[in-house]
Amino acid sequence: MRRFSKLMVAAASAATLISSTVVASEVTEASSAKHAKAATQYRQAMFQLVRSNMGPLGGMAKGALPFDESVMQTNAVRLEQLADMMGDYLAVDTRKFDVETGAKDEIWESFSDVETKIMALKKASQGLQAAVKAGDESAYRGAIGKIGASCKSCHDDYKKD
Ligand code: HEC
Repeated sequence: MRRFSKLMVAAASAATLISSTVVASEVTEASSAKHAKAATQYRQAMFQLVRSNMGPLGGMAKGALPFDESVMQTNAVRLEQLADMMGDYLAVDTRKFDVETGAKDEIWESFSDVETKIMALKKASQGLQAAVKAGDESAYRGAIGKIGASCKSCHDDYKKD
C-alpha cells in the first residue's frame, strides 16, 4: 500500500510536470524588414484569435451571456493551445525595424518573465477546463477572471496602451 501510494504520487507529479511544461522559446532577431513585418502580423493575428476566444468568456463572467459549458470548454482548450504557441510568436525580436506594434521593447529583454506570464495563461485556461469538468458553476466566474488577470498582467508590463 505504501509503495502503491508512492507510485501514485510519482505518477501525479510526472503528470503535473508534463502538463506544465512549455518548451522554452528562444528570442531571435528578425532578419529583415520584411521578416519583422510578417512576424508582427502573425503575432497580432495570434492575439486576435486569443481575443475571439476570450470575448464570449468575458461576456459570461460579466453576466451579459449565460454560462455555456460547451463554449467554455472549447474556448478554454483553444486558449491553452494558443498559450502553447505564444512563446514562439512573441520570440521574434522586431525592435530593430520600424513596425507598427503594440509590443514594448522590454518584452525581448526579459523573456523568461514573459514565459512565466504565458504559463499563467495556460494554467488559468486549464483551471477553467477543470471547473467545467467538475460542473462547478460557482467557480466559473473566478476561473474566467483568472484568465483575464493573466492577460492584464502581461499587457501591464509588455503592451503599449
Ligand atoms: C505573455 C504576454 C501576453 C499575454 C499573456 C497576453 N497578451 Fe495580449 N498582447 C501582448 C502583446 C505584447 C501585444 C502586442 C502585440 C503587437 O502589437 O505586436 C498584445 C496584443 C493583444 C491584442 C491586440 C492584437 C492586435 O491586433 O494588435 C489583443 C486583442 C490581445 N493582446 C488580447 C489578449 C487577451 C484577451 C489575452 C488573455 C486571454 C492576452 N492578450 C494575453 C502580450 C500578451
